[in-house]
Amino acid sequence: MSGEAAPPPSWRPLCRLEEIPDGGAKEFAPSSGSHNGLFAIRRGGDVFVYENSCPHIGVPLNWAPDRFLDAKGRHIVCGTHGALFRIADGMCFKGPCTGLPLTAIPFRVEDGVLLVDPEGAG
Ligand code: FES
Repeated sequence: MSGEAAPPPSWRPLCRLEEIPDGGAKEFAPSSGSHNGLFAIRRGGDVFVYENSCPHIGVPLNWAPDRFLDAKGRHIVCGTHGALFRIADGMCFKGPCTGLPLTAIPFRVEDGVLLVDPEGAG
């Protein structure tokens, strides 16, 4: 036995951190039985994971594959009606769903692999 605590086997591996471009985002398909996919944003060593569903009408946010950010990469943008969300907490600050947050997904990083908690993952 290694003595090192392994993550619960139910945690879902998404990808290695380096597969998410620094300053960019990566999209993940829904897990079986789920309706919404997920996306992750990486800024250096910081990672943010959200459900890919706009709080306005529940459609996916991205405007192209893996494209979730505005032109300067400073905010999450909804491709349908242009709502803007803060990357750090997912809160909408401009657009038709101002004041509504994205659904943050609990995650952990183990040996460079991004894992999400299926209890909180779409
Ligand atoms: S669907 Fe996202 S702002 Fe309307």
